[in-house]
Amino acid sequence: MRFPENFMLGATTAAHQVEGNNIHSDCWAQEQMKHSSYLEPSLDAIDHYHRYEEDIRLLAQAGLNTYRFSIEWARIEPEEGRFDEGEAEHYRRMIRCCRENGVEPMVCMHHFSSPKWLISKGGWEAEETVEYFRRYCAWVMERLGGELTYVCTINEANMRLQMSHVMAKYMRQAQAASGSLQVGVNLEAMMAQMEEANREAAQVFGLPEGQQPQTFQTPCTPEGDQIIIRAHEAARDAMKAVCPHLKVGITLSLHDFQALPGGEAELEKRWADEFTHYLPALEGDDFVGVQNYTRQLVGPEGSVSVPAGADVTSMGHEFYPEALAHVIRRVAKDYHGDIIVTENGVAAEDDVQRVRFIRRALDGVEDCIAEGIPVRGYLHWTLLDNFEWQKAYSVKFGLIAVDRATQKRTSKLSLAYLGSQR
Ligand code: BGC
Repeated sequence: MRFPENFMLGATTAAHQVEGNNIHSDCWAQEQMKHSSYLEPSLDAIDHYHRYEEDIRLLAQAGLNTYRFSIEWARIEPEEGRFDEGEAEHYRRMIRCCRENGVEPMVCMHHFSSPKWLISKGGWEAEETVEYFRRYCAWVMERLGGELTYVCTINEANMRLQMSHVMAKYMRQAQAASGSLQVGVNLEAMMAQMEEANREAAQVFGLPEGQQPQTFQTPCTPEGDQIIIRAHEAARDAMKAVCPHLKVGITLSLHDFQALPGGEAELEKRWADEFTHYLPALEGDDFVGVQNYTRQLVGPEGSVSVPAGADVTSMGHEFYPEALAHVIRRVAKDYHGDIIVTENGVAAEDDVQRVRFIRRALDGVEDCIAEGIPVRGYLHWTLLDNFEWQKAYSVKFGLIAVDRATQKRTSKLSLAYLGSQR
């Protein structure tokens, strides 16, 4: 056996990306906009809402023992304060389906999408969101907590902060470049279009003109980052108060930062932002969810692009599965509790590429365990080809292919390969 007896080997999905018809969410509202930045709307996605039994069966039959999926807040509380018992029952059926198939369910309470009403009330920059999130999590655990062990509060709690860095860098580059344009680009018209898009967004969410919706997929202020941290802590404490047996953690998107000559100080800054400044909030947690997709080279001025000639995935990431073990080791230096890899994967049309990625990533996990690092599980992103947010259905991360015209599932070789690695 490659891994310890009770090692969790499985796959992850997120509600909005697979369920379909998440009509009360902020993402759905944005997808329908005239000025939408989504390539396509999610619509019925891959209909996991109705087909979860088949999907969980395929996962179990391949030999996997854990399924991480998210509970959709916008279904549970479609309007502020109106909680839907029927939707809680839906997730209870999913949990039971996992158990019947010998699969450990791990739920995530928030995976990027939020109820539309929450965004209308200020979203992830409003202090009240802490209490709204706590109340929703407690409500769900009062019903489902008895049937669960593992719960993640917020997926990639550091994602908004990462976005603010990327946006700041992008704006600096755009400003520097705009003076040097020699082509007939109509910057005024582009700006006018952006303003129109902003006006539409404010209107859709019922916000005053000039105010932008603060969804989980927008850059945050330092205060917004603190709101996420407090939402995590409040939700964790409330869920554990309802069900003390629960093992609760957060998940973080973590790059394998590698310094180029002179980039060491910048690397430390990036790692502090991405990981160490969250450490105090993790103190009451039972595990940390590590999510990694690639490495990131860092020079004195910050991140640099993928090296010339490198193998690149269809997301534009460098194909670099070794990044996972590097990140696990760095996390273990600062965090001494259990580590679960809650996401790791590759966008690839060619499934052989995925098998290669999994093999090399798992080799690294195995080494980390041999070194004494408490890695308790590896959950691959993702079980099925699905709705990749603004890139819609254009990239494929799945272990199972889905024909969206018929919703027919076809397991890929990588599913069997991953399942055989226990
Ligand atoms: C997110 C997923 C996303 C994946 C691939 C992760 O950061 O949690 O929702 O689909 O990356 O881009």
